[in-house]
Amino acid sequence: MNLRVIQWATGSVGVAAIKGVLEHPELELVGCWVYSDAKNGKDVGEIIGTAPFGVTATNSIDEILALDADAVIYAPLMPNVDEVAALLRSGKNVVSPLGWFYPSEKEAAPLEVAAQAGNATLHGAGIGPGAATELFPLLMSVMSTGVTFVRAEEFSDLRTYGAPDVLRYVMGFGGTPDSALTGPMQKLLDGGFIQSVRLIVDRLGFAADPKIHTSQEVAVATAPIDSPIGTIERGQVAGRRFHWEALVGGTVVVRITVNWLMGEENLDPPWSFGPAGERYEMEILGNPDTFVTVKGWQPESVEAGLQSNPGIVATAAHCVNAVPATCAAPAGIQSFFDLPLITGRAAPSLARTDS
Ligand SMILES: NC(=O)c1ccc[n+]([C@@H]2O[C@H](COP(=O)([O-])OP(=O)(O)OC[C@H]3O[C@@H](n4cnc5c(N)ncnc54)[C@H](OP(=O)(O)O)[C@@H]3O)[C@@H](O)[C@H]2O)c1
Repeated sequence: MNLRVIQWATGSVGVAAIKGVLEHPELELVGCWVYSDAKNGKDVGEIIGTAPFGVTATNSIDEILALDADAVIYAPLMPNVDEVAALLRSGKNVVSPLGWFYPSEKEAAPLEVAAQAGNATLHGAGIGPGAATELFPLLMSVMSTGVTFVRAEEFSDLRTYGAPDVLRYVMGFGGTPDSALTGPMQKLLDGGFIQSVRLIVDRLGFAADPKIHTSQEVAVATAPIDSPIGTIERGQVAGRRFHWEALVGGTVVVRITVNWLMGEENLDPPWSFGPAGERYEMEILGNPDTFVTVKGWQPESVEAGLQSNPGIVATAAHCVNAVPATCAAPAGIQSFFDLPLITGRAAPSLARTDS
């Protein structure tokens, strides 16, 4: 019998997750929560641009809580602890790219209680925080002894990110350097990326300072730059870089960095992706060293990215593929190393009929 899945929110990740559920041999979509009034009451097929398939979207939390379902893929704009707690208490397992990758005791406490009450599991998955920042570097560390340093770094062109309001008002692109540096972004990102660093520190057993060091830099436009939020004028923010670091006695042992640029031209400082282009990098220094570059999670062009961004699709896929293991896991918050190794599944046209 298939696992019954509800999709929570139908933004970029949500739409990709619905398509992923429809392709997964063990999953069946049975419900969908939407935020927008315009989508309320619509068939989910209409929302994702396919023929209707008989699942109606609702903006009623009560209707979702009352549904008989095994799991919810929770992907709204911002996390709401009360919503996640209610889903868990109603007995639904939750997979989400918004957090709970490796929460501190304080972050975990309210949700751990709800999960135990509903005999349900909460699991955080995604690309970063998630696979690119902590899961894959940690998996690769098995090939080294004496690990001295772990780095995960993203180099992305954010002109492919089709969320203009988030880019401008949350991320601070197109604003002044001062408002970007003092805006909400560092705190919003800290929630997830500090968990990524802490998981690496704890798994590898570094005697690291408990405080994870955070820092950020901005680049400004030196000439007008065309972007999804309109023209970024000279002097306005057109590049952002964030770092999260764990230190042992003043030496950095784990560093996660994101480089988010509005293209590579007309920036001060003159940041670029270099000859390797957009990519995700992972590096482990030890005996021996490992260095991996991942291509394919960024779109071929700005236009292609605005149609469908592979990094978003990968994030959704990680959540979808984690549903069966999350449903099978003991109640509580379960991180990557609490669950068995998870893989993708064959495309329906190439799959064994008994799988
Ligand atoms: N860990 C990772 O690797 C990773 C990667 C990518 C994204 N994320 C996170 O995943 C989440 C979803 O990303 P996305 O790209 O899908 O975002 P998005 O395209 O902006 O979609 C978010 C959806 O949330 C709903 N929404 C909008 N305003 C809301 C509000 N005020 N309150 C509650 N819901 C609201 C809407 O759903 P409806 O359209 O259904 O009404 C919207 O489409 C974000 O928090 C993002 O940071 C994590």
